[in-house]
Amino acid sequence: MRIILINSLLYPIVSMSEAPEEEIICQCFQVSDVTIKGYIKSRNLVEIEQVTNVCGAGGGCQSCHMLLQLFIDQQHKKPPEKIAESSNGHSQKRGIFGKLFARF
Ligand code: FES
Repeated sequence: MRIILINSLLYPIVSMSEAPEEEIICQCFQVSDVTIKGYIKSRNLVEIEQVTNVCGAGGGCQSCHMLLQLFIDQQHKKPPEKIAESSNGHSQKRGIFGKLFARF
C-alpha cells in the first residue's frame, strides 16, 4: 500500500489529452516541434539560421527547413502581401510557403 502511494506521488497519472504531443521535426538533431516553436516565440526568431543557432534544428541535411519556415511564418502571422513589403517600404525575405501560396 505504501509503495503504491509513493509511486502515485512520484509518477502521477497524466492522461494522453493533457500530455503535449511532440513530434520530432529535425531528425538530424532530434528537435521537436514544441521546442522549435517555443524558441521562435520566446526569442522572436524570424530566420531559419536563428533557429539553428539556438537549438540546432536545421543545421544538418536541411530537409526540415520547409517546416522551420512554416513555423516562423505561422508565429508572425503575416499575410503574403505584408511579408512582401513591410511598413517602411523595404521588401523582406519571403518564406517558402509564402512563395508557394502568394498567388492564392
Ligand atoms: S532534419 Fe533538420 S537538419 Fe536534417
